[in-house]
Amino acid sequence: MTDTASPNLDRLTARGRAFLGTRHAIMAGAMSWVSERNLVSAISNAGGFGVIACGAMSPELLQGEIAATKAMTQKPFGVNLITMHPQLMDLIGVCRAQGVTHVVLAGGVPPGPAIAAIKEFAKVVAFAPNFAFARKLLRSGADALVIEGSEAGGHIGPVSLAVLAQEILPALPDATIFAAGGLGRGSGIAAMLEMGASGVQLGTRFAASAESIAHPNFKKMFIRAAARDAVASVQFDPRLPVIPVRALKNAGTEAFMEKQREVAGRLERGEVELAVAQLDIEHYWAGALRRAVIDGDVENGSVMAGQSVGMVSSEESVQTIIDELVTEAEAVLTSRAPASAA
Ligand SMILES: Cc1cc2nc3c(=O)[nH]c(=O)nc-3n(C[C@H](O)[C@H](O)[C@H](O)COP(=O)(O)O)c2cc1C
Repeated sequence: MTDTASPNLDRLTARGRAFLGTRHAIMAGAMSWVSERNLVSAISNAGGFGVIACGAMSPELLQGEIAATKAMTQKPFGVNLITMHPQLMDLIGVCRAQGVTHVVLAGGVPPGPAIAAIKEFAKVVAFAPNFAFARKLLRSGADALVIEGSEAGGHIGPVSLAVLAQEILPALPDATIFAAGGLGRGSGIAAMLEMGASGVQLGTRFAASAESIAHPNFKKMFIRAAARDAVASVQFDPRLPVIPVRALKNAGTEAFMEKQREVAGRLERGEVELAVAQLDIEHYWAGALRRAVIDGDVENGSVMAGQSVGMVSSEESVQTIIDELVTEAEAVLTSRAPASAA
């Protein structure tokens, strides 16, 4: 592992690095189908913090994925669980039995019993979409927060990282907070740390890395795309609220409108309850993402990507990406530091 000195960066990330137990306070956000043993272990071995995406996995599959990841790295990594998974408590049991040290709860309000159960054996990380919620999560026992801006890939909230960072970071100076969404260069990382973040989380830049198992078509599309190609999905019917998803524009973007039309029709005819209709939409996304990531059908599948996709210019190793981010961030911080402190 390459390890050049980065004193300014290390000073600003001391809390984040201690929390994660890593060389760098760089988390690779969980990405369904992408964040499995190969990518997760590569990130952790390179000094970052890999996170397994459980997605819709069964407890048995998750158990196998954690065990396989442990066989590939001695370094810390986490597991991302979706709170609406019907077997959430069983998945938490698997994490406990496997000695997982950090659990990231995504996809909605984390239930109190889930937080309590995780805290018996691991640290809890949760997503905060605004200041009031951030404070509530910390009071409910979350050990660290991720603030993810709407620039991010995958399911997104409505507010940009620039705004979330200003709203949340100065107001919670003692909290461990990781900034995510749209970060693709060391300069962006340095800016977030200077505003008070303890570390950062990136997804898009790692999705197209050499160690990512994503299909070559998926990676090629990332390399060619510009920021403006990563668009948020549009809600078709106000009666069917769906969480927007940011992905590269393709025929699948149109197909999603058709899917919403079909589900909204069933809802209107009273054939399904709202919660079932919303779950149907979520299953649609999981299938569409698999189609693009695993099968390589980047025309009809969902090529989820953040606006930082414009900063992906080639297929690089995870180590190269992390080293580059660290070097860039340290250079920016050094250029601003007084000569005596540099
Ligand atoms: C292909 C893809 C799949 C994703 N899947 C998940 C997921 O399953 N769970 C989750 O919490 N976040 C998911 N995300 C969000 C990432 O974990 C991360 O927070 C985000 O990518 C950060 O923004 P960036 O893409 O601009 O770096 C996904 C992102 C991408 C690009």
